[in-house]
Amino acid sequence: MQIITIANQKGGTAKTVTAAAILQAGAAQGLKVLAIDLDPQANLTFALRGSTKGKGSYELLEGDPARQTIHETAQGIDIIPSSKNLATVTTSQGSARRLQRALQPTRGIYDLIVIDTPPTAGELLYNALQASTGLIIPLQADIFGLQGLYQIADTARQFKKSNPELTVKGFVLTRYDSRSTLKRTMKDTITAKAAEMQIPYLAEIREGVAIQEAISLQQSIFSYAPKAKPVQDYEKLFKKIMEG
Ligand SMILES: Nc1ncnc2c1ncn2[C@@H]1O[C@H](COP(=O)(O)OP(=O)(O)OP(=O)(O)O)[C@@H](O)[C@H]1O
Ligand SMILES: [Mg+2]
Repeated sequence: MQIITIANQKGGTAKTVTAAAILQAGAAQGLKVLAIDLDPQANLTFALRGSTKGKGSYELLEGDPARQTIHETAQGIDIIPSSKNLATVTTSQGSARRLQRALQPTRGIYDLIVIDTPPTAGELLYNALQASTGLIIPLQADIFGLQGLYQIADTARQFKKSNPELTVKGFVLTRYDSRSTLKRTMKDTITAKAAEMQIPYLAEIREGVAIQEAISLQQSIFSYAPKAKPVQDYEKLFKKIMEG
């Protein structure tokens, strides 16, 4: 069973969309999947139409049993939703091992767990990395994307010692437009720099309005627009993730 963190300390790189897409692809294949929203912005909770009433990831980190924090959604995805209190979780409140401990009882229940994280280095991201078997890094093909890749790779490296299970599964180029010469050049640069850091290229996801539409309607991208280019790209990414 894989526990995958979607992370990049840079904001707006399609972390939440990528997390939602992987979970929705899993649910469409009949897998039992669990979403964990560790971002106080609660974007994944919104996208999956998760409940914000009752317990969520804040309470999970505070030591409440996992089963009390899990909610079912209409998309066939279970979710541990975000809550406002999450923003108050700080380093001084405890260790980065809280999520790892809290998720132990769920390991036999789910085929796949995906964790969405906020665009900052801090206790929430650290708990996610400590609890995961894999890290996927979404980024855009520009210079700040490359800078973000260096930063998250550095953070992940620090967790390899305390969590030997953690593998950097790779990076995903999001909102990609292959017609742009600049983006193609940046793709080559990023792929080369990533290879030097032993970070594999996973996929490129094309830009497409269907993504924003499905998310704002709180629908699965696979039922909303199965033929849309970015949706097909996410399907390919999902297959690659499940292969290894
Ligand atoms: N392939 C795509 N085509 C079109 N729009 C996209 C695509 N992927 C993501 N977006 C849009 O880009 C914006 C940012 O995406 P998202 O919220 O997933 O980023 P994020 O990394 O989670 O942001 P944050 O750092 O704030 O958590 C959203 O409006 C989303 O709908
Ligand atoms: Mg997000």
